[in-house]
Amino acid sequence: MKIMITGGAGFIGSNLARELVKDGHKVIIVDDFSYGSMFNLTKNGKPIAEIHKMSVCDNRVLELMKGVDYVYHFAAISCLPICLEQPSHTTNVNVAGTLNVLEAARLNNVKRVIFASSSAVYENNEKFPLKEEDEINPHSIYGVQKYSGELFCKAYRKLYDLDIVIVRFFNVYGPNQDYTRQKPPVMSYIIKELLKKRTPVMYGTGEQKRDFIFIDDLTSMNKLLMEKESARNETFNIGSGKVCSINEIYTVVDDILKTGIKPIRKEAYEMYEGIENIDKGKSIKKEIVAKETNKFTEADISKAKELLGWEPKTGLRQGILASIVFVKEMMKINEDF
Ligand SMILES: NC(=O)c1ccc[n+]([C@@H]2O[C@H](COP(=O)([O-])OP(=O)(O)OC[C@H]3O[C@@H](n4cnc5c(N)ncnc54)[C@H](O)[C@@H]3O)[C@@H](O)[C@H]2O)c1
Repeated sequence: MKIMITGGAGFIGSNLARELVKDGHKVIIVDDFSYGSMFNLTKNGKPIAEIHKMSVCDNRVLELMKGVDYVYHFAAISCLPICLEQPSHTTNVNVAGTLNVLEAARLNNVKRVIFASSSAVYENNEKFPLKEEDEINPHSIYGVQKYSGELFCKAYRKLYDLDIVIVRFFNVYGPNQDYTRQKPPVMSYIIKELLKKRTPVMYGTGEQKRDFIFIDDLTSMNKLLMEKESARNETFNIGSGKVCSINEIYTVVDDILKTGIKPIRKEAYEMYEGIENIDKGKSIKKEIVAKETNKFTEADISKAKELLGWEPKTGLRQGILASIVFVKEMMKINEDF
Protein backbone atom coordinates (compact mmCIF):
# COMPACT_ATOMS: atom_id res chain seq x y z
CA MET A 1 0.00 0.00 0.00
CA LYS A 2 1.02 3.61 -0.52
CA ILE A 3 0.59 5.48 2.75
CA MET A 4 1.06 9.16 3.55
CA ILE A 5 1.87 10.25 7.09
CA THR A 6 1.64 13.98 7.74
CA GLY A 7 3.72 15.01 10.73
CA GLY A 8 5.72 11.82 10.11
CA ALA A 9 8.96 13.28 11.46
CA GLY A 10 7.33 13.66 14.86
CA PHE A 11 6.99 11.27 17.74
CA ILE A 12 3.88 9.24 16.84
CA GLY A 13 4.23 9.46 13.05
CA SER A 14 7.86 8.30 12.94
CA ASN A 15 7.16 5.28 15.13
CA LEU A 16 4.31 4.31 12.81
CA ALA A 17 6.41 4.98 9.68
CA ARG A 18 9.08 2.52 10.83
CA GLU A 19 6.51 -0.22 11.39
CA LEU A 20 4.71 0.36 8.08
CA VAL A 21 8.02 0.30 6.17
CA LYS A 22 8.92 -2.95 7.96
CA ASP A 23 5.59 -4.39 6.80
CA GLY A 24 6.55 -3.62 3.18
CA HIS A 25 4.41 -0.52 2.57
CA LYS A 26 5.56 2.53 0.63
CA VAL A 27 5.50 5.45 3.07
CA ILE A 28 5.45 9.13 2.11
CA ILE A 29 6.15 11.69 4.82
CA VAL A 30 4.91 15.28 4.71
CA ASP A 31 6.40 17.36 7.50
CA ASP A 32 7.65 20.93 7.69
CA PHE A 33 10.16 19.95 10.41
CA SER A 34 8.99 22.78 12.67
CA TYR A 35 9.18 20.04 15.32
CA GLY A 36 10.15 16.40 14.91
CA SER A 37 13.50 15.43 13.41
CA MET A 38 15.20 13.76 10.50
CA PHE A 39 16.87 11.46 13.01
CA ASN A 40 13.46 9.90 13.71
CA LEU A 41 13.27 8.85 10.06
CA THR A 42 16.74 7.49 9.41
CA LYS A 43 18.35 4.08 9.74
CA ASN A 44 22.12 3.71 9.36
CA GLY A 45 22.20 7.32 8.14
CA LYS A 46 19.65 6.72 5.35
CA PRO A 47 16.00 7.88 5.20
CA ILE A 48 13.54 5.04 5.78
CA ALA A 49 10.82 6.63 3.63
CA GLU A 50 10.14 9.24 0.95
CA ILE A 51 10.32 12.54 2.81
CA HIS A 52 8.86 15.89 1.71
CA LYS A 53 9.67 18.99 3.73
CA MET A 54 6.35 20.70 3.24
CA SER A 55 3.57 22.25 5.28
CA VAL A 56 0.19 20.55 5.41
CA CYS A 57 -1.20 23.95 4.43
CA ASP A 58 0.68 23.78 1.11
CA ASN A 59 -1.36 23.28 -2.10
CA ARG A 60 1.23 20.78 -3.34
CA VAL A 61 -0.10 18.22 -0.84
CA LEU A 62 -2.84 17.55 -3.43
CA GLU A 63 -0.31 16.50 -6.07
CA LEU A 64 1.75 14.46 -3.62
CA MET A 65 -1.29 12.46 -2.58
CA LYS A 66 -1.81 11.03 -6.07
CA GLY A 67 -2.07 7.23 -5.86
CA VAL A 68 -2.01 7.22 -2.05
CA ASP A 69 -4.25 4.56 -0.47
CA TYR A 70 -4.28 5.70 3.17
CA VAL A 71 -3.48 8.99 4.91
CA TYR A 72 -2.53 9.34 8.56
CA HIS A 73 -3.00 13.02 9.35
CA PHE A 74 -0.80 13.54 12.40
CA ALA A 75 0.78 16.92 11.63
CA ALA A 76 -0.12 19.48 14.26
CA ILE A 77 1.31 21.94 16.73
CA SER A 78 0.29 20.12 19.86
CA CYS A 79 2.13 22.00 22.57
CA LEU A 80 -0.57 23.73 24.64
CA PRO A 81 1.52 26.76 25.65
CA ILE A 82 2.49 27.38 22.01
CA CYS A 83 -1.18 27.21 21.02
CA LEU A 84 -1.84 29.91 23.64
CA GLU A 85 1.12 32.01 22.50
CA GLN A 86 0.28 31.77 18.80
CA PRO A 87 -3.46 31.08 18.51
CA SER A 88 -3.83 32.27 14.93
CA HIS A 89 -0.79 30.48 13.50
CA THR A 90 -1.56 27.22 15.30
CA THR A 91 -5.19 27.35 14.16
CA ASN A 92 -3.96 27.73 10.62
CA VAL A 93 -1.89 24.56 10.95
CA ASN A 94 -4.21 22.52 13.16
CA VAL A 95 -7.51 23.42 11.50
CA ALA A 96 -6.90 24.86 8.00
CA GLY A 97 -4.09 22.33 7.51
CA THR A 98 -6.51 19.52 8.37
CA LEU A 99 -9.01 20.85 5.86
CA ASN A 100 -6.29 21.00 3.18
CA VAL A 101 -5.43 17.34 3.84
CA LEU A 102 -9.09 16.26 3.79
CA GLU A 103 -9.73 18.07 0.51
CA ALA A 104 -6.64 16.50 -1.08
CA ALA A 105 -7.77 13.07 0.17
CA ARG A 106 -11.24 13.56 -1.30
CA LEU A 107 -9.93 14.68 -4.69
CA ASN A 108 -7.51 11.75 -4.80
CA ASN A 109 -10.09 9.11 -3.82
CA VAL A 110 -8.04 8.05 -0.81
CA LYS A 111 -9.43 4.86 0.79
CA ARG A 112 -9.28 6.11 4.36
CA VAL A 113 -7.98 9.07 6.39
CA ILE A 114 -6.97 8.59 10.02
CA PHE A 115 -7.11 11.87 11.93
CA ALA A 116 -5.19 12.34 15.18
CA SER A 117 -7.45 14.09 17.64
CA SER A 118 -6.84 14.32 21.35
CA SER A 119 -8.27 13.63 24.79
CA ALA A 120 -8.14 17.46 25.08
CA VAL A 121 -11.57 17.54 23.40
CA TYR A 122 -13.05 15.97 26.58
CA GLU A 123 -12.01 19.00 28.65
CA ASN A 124 -14.65 19.95 31.27
CA ASN A 125 -16.01 16.40 31.59
CA GLU A 126 -16.32 15.18 35.15
CA LYS A 127 -17.49 11.61 34.50
CA PHE A 128 -14.77 8.97 34.08
CA PRO A 129 -13.62 6.87 32.30
CA LEU A 130 -14.22 8.93 29.17
CA LYS A 131 -16.27 7.31 26.44
CA GLU A 132 -16.29 8.30 22.77
CA GLU A 133 -19.91 9.48 22.97
CA ASP A 134 -19.32 11.73 26.03
CA GLU A 135 -19.91 15.45 25.82
CA ILE A 136 -17.39 17.51 23.88
CA ASN A 137 -17.06 21.06 25.12
CA PRO A 138 -13.43 22.22 25.15
CA HIS A 139 -12.25 25.77 25.84
CA SER A 140 -8.46 25.51 25.47
CA ILE A 141 -7.12 26.79 22.16
CA TYR A 142 -5.66 23.35 21.37
CA GLY A 143 -8.84 21.50 22.42
CA VAL A 144 -10.99 23.76 20.26
CA GLN A 145 -8.61 23.28 17.31
CA LYS A 146 -8.73 19.50 17.61
CA TYR A 147 -12.50 19.54 17.94
CA SER A 148 -12.73 21.78 14.87
CA GLY A 149 -10.63 19.22 13.00
CA GLU A 150 -13.07 16.52 14.10
CA LEU A 151 -16.03 18.60 12.89
CA PHE A 152 -14.45 18.96 9.46
CA CYS A 153 -13.84 15.20 9.40
CA LYS A 154 -17.52 14.62 10.18
CA ALA A 155 -18.52 17.09 7.46
CA TYR A 156 -16.35 15.27 4.90
CA ARG A 157 -17.83 11.93 5.92
CA LYS A 158 -21.32 13.29 5.36
CA LEU A 159 -20.72 15.44 2.29
CA TYR A 160 -18.50 13.08 0.32
CA ASP A 161 -18.70 9.69 2.00
CA LEU A 162 -14.95 9.92 2.64
CA ASP A 163 -13.99 7.21 5.14
CA ILE A 164 -12.38 8.99 8.09
CA VAL A 165 -11.35 7.43 11.38
CA ILE A 166 -10.94 9.86 14.28
CA VAL A 167 -8.59 8.81 17.06
CA ARG A 168 -8.39 10.60 20.37
CA PHE A 169 -4.93 9.97 21.78
CA PHE A 170 -4.47 10.28 25.53
CA ASN A 171 -0.98 10.93 27.02
CA VAL A 172 1.47 9.11 24.81
CA TYR A 173 5.08 8.53 25.86
CA GLY A 174 8.18 6.67 24.69
CA PRO A 175 11.10 6.79 22.24
CA ASN A 176 11.21 9.56 19.59
CA GLN A 177 9.19 11.93 21.77
CA ASP A 178 10.55 15.47 21.47
CA TYR A 179 12.57 15.93 24.63
CA THR A 180 14.29 19.03 23.30
CA ARG A 181 11.31 21.39 23.25
CA GLN A 182 11.10 24.18 25.80
CA LYS A 183 8.15 22.63 27.64
CA PRO A 184 8.19 18.87 26.98
CA PRO A 185 5.27 16.72 28.14
CA VAL A 186 5.47 16.02 31.87
CA MET A 187 6.82 12.46 31.79
CA SER A 188 9.56 13.36 29.28
CA TYR A 189 10.41 16.38 31.38
CA ILE A 190 10.84 14.33 34.57
CA ILE A 191 13.01 11.73 32.78
CA LYS A 192 15.18 14.35 31.14
CA GLU A 193 15.69 16.50 34.23
CA LEU A 194 16.52 13.55 36.49
CA LEU A 195 18.88 12.05 33.90
CA LYS A 196 20.67 15.40 33.82
CA LYS A 197 20.66 15.45 37.65
CA ARG A 198 18.68 18.70 37.65
CA THR A 199 15.78 19.53 39.95
CA PRO A 200 12.44 19.35 38.13
CA VAL A 201 9.80 22.00 38.78
CA MET A 202 6.42 20.37 39.40
CA TYR A 203 3.14 22.27 39.37
CA GLY A 204 0.35 21.41 41.78
CA THR A 205 0.45 18.54 44.27
CA GLY A 206 1.51 15.93 41.73
CA GLU A 207 -1.47 13.83 42.75
CA GLN A 208 -3.28 14.57 39.47
CA LYS A 209 -3.84 11.31 37.60
CA ARG A 210 -3.72 10.79 33.84
CA ASP A 211 -4.00 7.98 31.35
CA PHE A 212 -0.54 7.30 29.89
CA ILE A 213 -0.04 4.99 26.93
CA PHE A 214 3.27 3.64 25.66
CA ILE A 215 4.06 4.36 22.02
CA ASP A 216 4.36 0.69 20.90
CA ASP A 217 0.79 0.03 22.05
CA LEU A 218 -0.38 3.14 20.23
CA THR A 219 1.46 2.11 17.05
CA SER A 220 -0.16 -1.35 17.06
CA MET A 221 -3.54 0.36 17.32
CA ASN A 222 -2.67 2.86 14.55
CA LYS A 223 -1.90 -0.03 12.21
CA LEU A 224 -5.26 -1.65 12.92
CA LEU A 225 -7.02 1.62 12.10
CA MET A 226 -5.87 1.21 8.51
CA GLU A 227 -6.38 -2.53 8.25
CA LYS A 228 -9.75 -3.15 9.87
CA GLU A 229 -13.02 -2.66 8.02
CA SER A 230 -14.69 -2.37 11.43
CA ALA A 231 -12.90 0.97 11.97
CA ARG A 232 -14.78 2.55 9.05
CA ASN A 233 -15.93 6.10 9.92
CA GLU A 234 -15.54 5.40 13.64
CA THR A 235 -14.11 7.47 16.47
CA PHE A 236 -11.85 5.77 19.03
CA ASN A 237 -10.14 6.61 22.28
CA ILE A 238 -6.56 5.40 22.51
CA GLY A 239 -5.22 5.26 26.02
CA SER A 240 -4.05 2.51 28.33
CA GLY A 241 -7.34 2.50 30.21
CA LYS A 242 -5.27 2.89 33.42
CA VAL A 243 -4.34 6.00 35.36
CA CYS A 244 -1.32 7.00 37.38
CA SER A 245 -0.35 10.19 39.15
CA ILE A 246 2.54 12.46 38.25
CA ASN A 247 4.03 11.61 41.67
CA GLU A 248 3.90 7.89 40.85
CA ILE A 249 5.75 8.55 37.58
CA TYR A 250 8.32 10.61 39.45
CA THR A 251 8.82 7.77 41.93
CA VAL A 252 9.27 5.14 39.19
CA VAL A 253 11.77 7.29 37.25
CA ASP A 254 13.71 8.10 40.40
CA ASP A 255 13.66 4.48 41.52
CA ILE A 256 15.28 3.50 38.20
CA LEU A 257 17.80 6.35 38.16
CA LYS A 258 18.41 6.50 41.93
CA THR A 259 18.99 10.28 42.01
CA GLY A 260 17.16 11.03 45.26
CA ILE A 261 16.38 14.50 43.86
CA LYS A 262 13.17 16.02 45.22
CA PRO A 263 11.21 18.31 42.88
CA ILE A 264 10.57 22.00 43.47
CA ARG A 265 6.82 22.48 43.94
CA LYS A 266 4.94 25.42 42.48
CA GLU A 267 1.28 26.36 42.51
CA ALA A 268 -0.94 24.76 39.87
CA TYR A 269 -1.91 28.18 38.49
CA GLU A 270 1.75 28.99 37.78
CA MET A 271 2.11 26.29 35.12
CA TYR A 272 2.06 28.67 32.17
CA GLU A 273 4.59 31.09 33.68
CA GLY A 274 6.95 32.48 31.08
CA ILE A 275 4.57 32.12 28.17
CA GLU A 276 4.78 35.20 25.99
CA ASN A 277 1.76 37.54 26.11
CA ILE A 278 -0.07 35.42 28.68
CA ASP A 279 -0.10 38.16 31.32
CA LYS A 280 -0.69 41.07 28.94
CA GLY A 281 -4.09 42.70 28.39
CA LYS A 282 -6.79 40.37 29.62
CA SER A 283 -4.56 37.72 31.18
CA ILE A 284 -5.47 34.04 31.38
CA LYS A 285 -7.65 33.13 34.37
CA LYS A 286 -5.67 31.51 37.19
CA GLU A 287 -8.41 29.00 37.93
CA ILE A 288 -8.38 27.81 34.30
CA VAL A 289 -4.62 27.20 34.41
CA ALA A 290 -4.96 25.42 37.77
CA LYS A 291 -7.74 23.25 36.35
CA GLU A 292 -5.57 22.27 33.36
CA THR A 293 -2.64 21.44 35.68
CA ASN A 294 -4.82 19.34 37.97
CA LYS A 295 -6.84 17.68 35.25
CA PHE A 296 -7.71 14.01 35.47
CA THR A 297 -7.95 11.85 32.35
CA GLU A 298 -8.94 8.22 31.92
CA ALA A 299 -9.88 6.55 28.65
CA ASP A 300 -12.57 3.97 28.28
CA ILE A 301 -10.96 1.77 25.61
CA SER A 302 -13.65 -0.91 25.41
CA LYS A 303 -14.74 0.22 21.93
CA ALA A 304 -11.26 -0.32 20.46
CA LYS A 305 -10.98 -3.66 22.26
CA GLU A 306 -14.31 -4.87 20.94
CA LEU A 307 -14.25 -3.51 17.38
CA LEU A 308 -10.54 -3.93 16.65
CA GLY A 309 -9.41 -6.68 18.99
CA TRP A 310 -6.72 -4.34 20.31
CA GLU A 311 -5.19 -4.44 23.77
CA PRO A 312 -2.37 -2.31 25.25
CA LYS A 313 0.39 -4.53 26.64
CA THR A 314 3.13 -2.35 28.13
CA GLY A 315 3.31 -1.74 31.86
CA LEU A 316 4.31 1.68 33.21
CA ARG A 317 7.73 0.66 34.53
CA GLN A 318 8.59 -1.19 31.31
CA GLY A 319 7.57 1.85 29.21
CA ILE A 320 9.50 4.27 31.40
CA LEU A 321 12.60 2.06 31.20
CA ALA A 322 12.42 2.03 27.38
CA SER A 323 12.03 5.83 27.40
CA ILE A 324 15.05 6.26 29.66
CA VAL A 325 17.17 4.03 27.40
CA PHE A 326 16.15 6.20 24.43
CA VAL A 327 16.97 9.50 26.15
CA LYS A 328 20.34 8.17 27.35
CA GLU A 329 21.23 7.16 23.78
CA MET A 330 20.12 10.55 22.44
CA MET A 331 22.15 12.40 25.06
CA LYS A 332 25.26 10.65 23.75
CA ILE A 333 24.74 11.83 20.16
CA ASN A 334 22.81 15.10 20.46
CA GLU A 335 23.93 17.91 22.72
CA ASP A 336 20.46 19.54 22.65
CA PHE A 337 19.14 16.64 24.70
N1 LIG B 1 1.81 12.86 21.92
C1 LIG B 1 0.64 12.88 22.53
O1 LIG B 1 0.57 12.56 23.74
C2 LIG B 1 -0.61 13.27 21.80
C3 LIG B 1 -1.81 13.27 22.52
C4 LIG B 1 -2.98 13.63 21.86
C5 LIG B 1 -2.96 13.95 20.51
N2 LIG B 1 -1.77 13.97 19.84
C6 LIG B 1 -1.81 14.32 18.41
O2 LIG B 1 -1.10 13.34 17.68
C7 LIG B 1 -0.43 13.93 16.57
C8 LIG B 1 1.03 13.58 16.61
O3 LIG B 1 1.57 14.06 17.85
P1 LIG B 1 3.10 13.89 18.21
O4 LIG B 1 3.17 13.68 19.67
O5 LIG B 1 3.77 12.94 17.29
O6 LIG B 1 3.62 15.38 17.94
P2 LIG B 1 5.01 15.86 17.36
O7 LIG B 1 5.10 17.31 17.65
O8 LIG B 1 6.12 14.98 17.81
O9 LIG B 1 4.81 15.64 15.80
C9 LIG B 1 4.03 16.49 15.01
C10 LIG B 1 4.76 16.71 13.71
O10 LIG B 1 3.98 17.61 12.91
C11 LIG B 1 4.87 18.45 12.22
N3 LIG B 1 4.21 19.70 11.82
C12 LIG B 1 3.84 20.75 12.60
N4 LIG B 1 3.30 21.71 11.83
C13 LIG B 1 3.31 21.25 10.55
C14 LIG B 1 2.88 21.77 9.30
N5 LIG B 1 2.35 23.00 9.19
N6 LIG B 1 3.06 21.01 8.20
C15 LIG B 1 3.61 19.78 8.28
N7 LIG B 1 4.05 19.24 9.42
C16 LIG B 1 3.89 19.96 10.55
C17 LIG B 1 6.01 18.71 13.20
O11 LIG B 1 7.18 19.13 12.54
C18 LIG B 1 6.15 17.34 13.87
O12 LIG B 1 7.12 16.55 13.21
C19 LIG B 1 -0.73 15.42 16.66
O13 LIG B 1 -1.79 15.72 15.81
C20 LIG B 1 -1.12 15.64 18.10
O14 LIG B 1 -1.97 16.74 18.25
C21 LIG B 1 -0.61 13.63 20.45
